[in-house]
Amino acid sequence: MDLRASYTDNPVTAELYDLFPAYIHRPDTDFYLRSAAASAGRILDLGCGTGRILLPIAEQGCQITGLDLSEYMLSKCRQKLKSIANSSTDHVQLVQGDMTNFKLDNTFKLAIIPFHAFQHLIGIAHQLGCLSSINRHLVMKAKLIFDVFYVDFRIINDPRLSDEVEDFEEYELPDGRRIRRTHRVAGFHPTEQYNDVEMIYYLTNPDGKAKRIVHAFPMRYFFRYEMEHLLERCGFRVIELYGNFDESPLVHDSPEMIFIAEKYKEV
Ligand SMILES: C[S@@+](CC[C@H](N)C(=O)[O-])C[C@H]1O[C@@H](n2cnc3c(N)ncnc32)[C@H](O)[C@@H]1O
Repeated sequence: MDLRASYTDNPVTAELYDLFPAYIHRPDTDFYLRSAAASAGRILDLGCGTGRILLPIAEQGCQITGLDLSEYMLSKCRQKLKSIANSSTDHVQLVQGDMTNFKLDNTFKLAIIPFHAFQHLIGIAHQLGCLSSINRHLVMKAKLIFDVFYVDFRIINDPRLSDEVEDFEEYELPDGRRIRRTHRVAGFHPTEQYNDVEMIYYLTNPDGKAKRIVHAFPMRYFFRYEMEHLLERCGFRVIELYGNFDESPLVHDSPEMIFIAEKYKEV
């Protein structure tokens, strides 16, 4: 199943990504910065996007390689890279590639997959391909740290998710356009554990001309022990599991599942 996230064919998300309050204030940055600071060696950021996490990590002096499928997202990241310290190619490398199957020249002490990017991998072959590729690029005992959302069984297949829900109130972009965004689930696939998600952008030009742009992609959801089995098959052992970025334990109403896994064998 090739259900690549439409970041690759839709420039609007890359254009607007860094302007969304929910992304700017997502409470994961300090967590990933701490994880990066604790790793003595080059870091691999998979699905690095516009560099929301990658750039602050580079700024704190770590060497980091970012890989993303979307040239749109990477080009935003490259633009932002110009204005930070530690932006030399020795410090930061950006690679256009597919996290389900990649080959890089470096080995790494830490791999991260921030902000649910692993959930863009719908089929098991892609998930195993990703974790095995990561394994082959990590030194022994290196860590893999990533987050997926914690599934609330009561709502994941609730038909009311088909209704458009406002993400944030309309606001003005720096270029004078006004933006509003909603999201909805356009399709449910409970037996395959994914939903068809739509992010819907309403953009209004200063002259009043309006556009509705839909960014549609499937989003896989994972269960705790399923993920542990996937990791085990690819040579990783889970050493910590958090329910939020304050490193609190996973409980029934946690928003996230944050896996800290360690490479313990080659695959
Ligand atoms: C929700 S964004 C997260 C971006 C960034 N990690 C962050 O925290 O802001 C998901 C990213 O994953 C990337 N992506 C999706 N599928 C991918 C794949 N198969 N290989 C590499 N990147 C992928 C998308 O292009 C997008 O930039």
